[in-house]
Amino acid sequence: MSPKMLIPLVLAVVLLSTGLMQSSHAQLSSSYYSSTCPSVQAIVRSGMQSAVQNETRMAASILRLFFHDCFVQGCDASVLLDATSTMQSEKSAIPNANSLRGFDVVDTIKASVESSCPGVVSCADILALAARDAVVLSGGPSWTVMLGRRDSLTASYSDANANIPSPDDDISTLTSKFQAQGLSTTDLVVLSGAHTIGQARCVTFRDRLYNEDGSGEADPTLSTTYLQQLQSICPSSGSDDNLAPLDVQTATKFDNAYYVNLLNEQGLLTSDQELFSSNSSSIVPIVKKLAQSSSSFFSAFPTSMTSMGSINVLTGTNGEVRLNCRTIN
Ligand code: HEM
Ligand SMILES: *[C@@H]1O[C@H](CO)[C@@H](O)[C@H](O)[C@H]1NC(C)=O
Ligand SMILES: *[C@@H]1O[C@H](CO)[C@@H](O)[C@H](O)[C@H]1NC(C)=O
Repeated sequence: MSPKMLIPLVLAVVLLSTGLMQSSHAQLSSSYYSSTCPSVQAIVRSGMQSAVQNETRMAASILRLFFHDCFVQGCDASVLLDATSTMQSEKSAIPNANSLRGFDVVDTIKASVESSCPGVVSCADILALAARDAVVLSGGPSWTVMLGRRDSLTASYSDANANIPSPDDDISTLTSKFQAQGLSTTDLVVLSGAHTIGQARCVTFRDRLYNEDGSGEADPTLSTTYLQQLQSICPSSGSDDNLAPLDVQTATKFDNAYYVNLLNEQGLLTSDQELFSSNSSSIVPIVKKLAQSSSSFFSAFPTSMTSMGSINVLTGTNGEVRLNCRTIN
């Protein structure tokens, strides 16, 4: 073979091997169940519709469940596994215990999916679809969900503690926890916009109100009126489970008010307000743009959700399709 003919051959080998090394999300497909369970999208949507109709907050709870799944071993439904005698659950990890909600809703949806298409649709894919439907039902954008994830055989209590960001993380910790998942600072800002819906417990923001960084003072990046409002919900001790909306303006509507709140020093968690008040020259412009333009937020959110939804997915013959989301087969 002449050297000239070798060039395309070498190119082909390089292209093929980089293709194989690409993140496994290349293996997900929007039509994954089109012949094996064509009704799956309608079943999940109708399950989410009933759940949100019964309790508006459930949209937020399911969206968060998907995030907490993806940040631990990837989007593999590991968060849904109950503890066994040999395995601690992710549910009992610090960020999740007495906090994550929606497991019963997932069980109900899984049962309906199983009755139409037994043994076909993974819990991980159900969660990805349900999270999208949660956003749509709250007035947010829709998108095509990539499918074909399989369910894990294990959970990781220790990774749940280590990987999931904490409400008092600063901007550099938040950035590095997202980077560790292959997500960018843009993804961090855009996905934090999920806090346009849902509630947080007093215990997750109390220190900001009374004793920021051990100072005995409130966090100076909290607007005065908002501080007073939060103090009336969350006393300096007790009432740990009292709830405040993550978006003080439009608590149940999926919109870009979250970012406007940050500009007004009305972010609920330290991790929210840090996106603006740490004055990061690369991040503040993103916050401002999303605050200014609802359509930028609505086009960015699906993109970042698709990236988050492809973290370390199990595909092909890896993992399994669980029959019950709480236990391995
Ligand atoms: C950037 C780092 C993040 C931190 C530190 C964080 C932290 C928190 C905390 C502490 C709560 C309240 C939990 C409780 O009081 O029990 C919460 C709620 C929530 N989070 Fe995040 N979160 C982050 C990112 C995200 C992302 C990426 C999503 C989804 C894409 C998300 C979705 C939600 C939702 C929807 C709620 C409300 C849940 C409900 O009402 O049941 N969060 N988050
Ligand atoms: C409806 O929501 C309430 C909480 O508001 C909950 O206790 C109940 O279990 C839910 N019912 C169904 C069928 O999901
Ligand atoms: C950010 O900028 C504001 C306004 O200039 C200033 O008051 C604040 O101290 C700065 N914060 C930090 C963390 O540098």
